[in-house]
Amino acid sequence: MALLRSVIDPELGADIVTLGMVPSVTIEDDGKVTVGVKLTIGGCPLRAQIKKDVETRVALHPGVRSVSIDWGEMTSDERTQVMTKARWNARQQAPDTEVPVSCRILAIASGKGGVGKSSVTVNLAAAVAAQGFIVGVLDADIWGFSVPRLLGIDDRLEAEHVEGSDKPKIIPNVRTIGRGSLKVVSTGFLVGEDTALMWRGLMLTKAVEQFLRDVRWGELDYLFIDMPPGTGDVQMGLARMLPRTDMIVVTTPALAAQKVAARAADMARRSFLRVSGVIENMTSFTCDHGQSYALFGEGGGQALADEIGVPLIGRVPLEPAVAAGGDAGVPISLDGVGPAADEFRAIAKRIIDDIAPPTNMAGCSARMLTLVNAALDAHQANAS
Ligand SMILES: Nc1ncnc2c1ncn2[C@@H]1O[C@H](COP(=O)(O)OP(=O)(O)OP(=O)(O)O)[C@@H](O)[C@H]1O
Ligand SMILES: [Mg+2]
Repeated sequence: MALLRSVIDPELGADIVTLGMVPSVTIEDDGKVTVGVKLTIGGCPLRAQIKKDVETRVALHPGVRSVSIDWGEMTSDERTQVMTKARWNARQQAPDTEVPVSCRILAIASGKGGVGKSSVTVNLAAAVAAQGFIVGVLDADIWGFSVPRLLGIDDRLEAEHVEGSDKPKIIPNVRTIGRGSLKVVSTGFLVGEDTALMWRGLMLTKAVEQFLRDVRWGELDYLFIDMPPGTGDVQMGLARMLPRTDMIVVTTPALAAQKVAARAADMARRSFLRVSGVIENMTSFTCDHGQSYALFGEGGGQALADEIGVPLIGRVPLEPAVAAGGDAGVPISLDGVGPAADEFRAIAKRIIDDIAPPTNMAGCSARMLTLVNAALDAHQANAS
């Protein structure tokens, strides 16, 4: 067993003993060793590698004459257990980030481009902030950034030296929204919209990692991450740095789009990110006469949600006001009127109430407690 602890399942990021993949080891008097190995799925692509690693590790041990493997497959319960363990391990080894542990992280992703990820991200972030939360927005679309324009922000990011760190930390752009606020970071604040192309050579994952590590986020209840279209790299990096990230998959109602989105969800799962819901965007268009047109097909959101076994959190209609709000830099979820604005606000409420409720410690109540304590302290100081 001790020898086998050096056999790592690279996908799950831990050794096979810790992961519970070795149910038995039989050692016979003549030095014949049989190792039981349970794979998460029978057709596991890592089977050959695990076989080789087990055989070479065990065969080198004095007294061992031969090694054979007794393959098995996990039940779905065992598989769930192993995934939980792997997720826990990943969390233990996750590199430092400046994102507070109590912050809920929601990555807005899709299988393909142009389905409305960025529009959904900024509208939900703004609507959640309007409920009194401190909401971070991380534009992970490093060279296709659109968050600055959608939020009407183009201030350069400032960096600040902080005590205990040799490197300066980036200070996010802050916008107050009602009782809450938005803290926004995007490469768009470092380069102009025109010079963005020069960043093409930059390692995407490195840039995102840097934003997570070197941005002084401070207090955050939520962090919304606008994912770039269809790249697995950023997702993997995110899974490594912030394994507690929840993914929300955006799709259009077309059944073909839903298939592509299903692949994105599958990829998320393989990097152990939890998919927590589906949002259908561009659902239908209703003209001034009240006639409704399903321009991009119908049913894709529900079909995708059913397929991956998560709730359909909302369906945002196709409405010129969404695009106009984006162009004006004012998300319609704030003061906009109409079905799309209403739906964005309803989705934000569902996220707060149900999909990803704020972590109590960091929620408004905790801040209230801090304020109350501070007031009490001040009162006591005055009294004495
Ligand atoms: N519900 C909607 N009604 C009308 N227009 C919309 C809606 N959602 C998004 N749009 C428009 O569709 C276009 C694409 O949206 P957006 O940029 O949000 O998509 P994306 O998935 O982030 O794209 P990319 O993959 O390029 O990052 C934008 O012009 C946006 O204004
Ligand atoms: Mg986008």
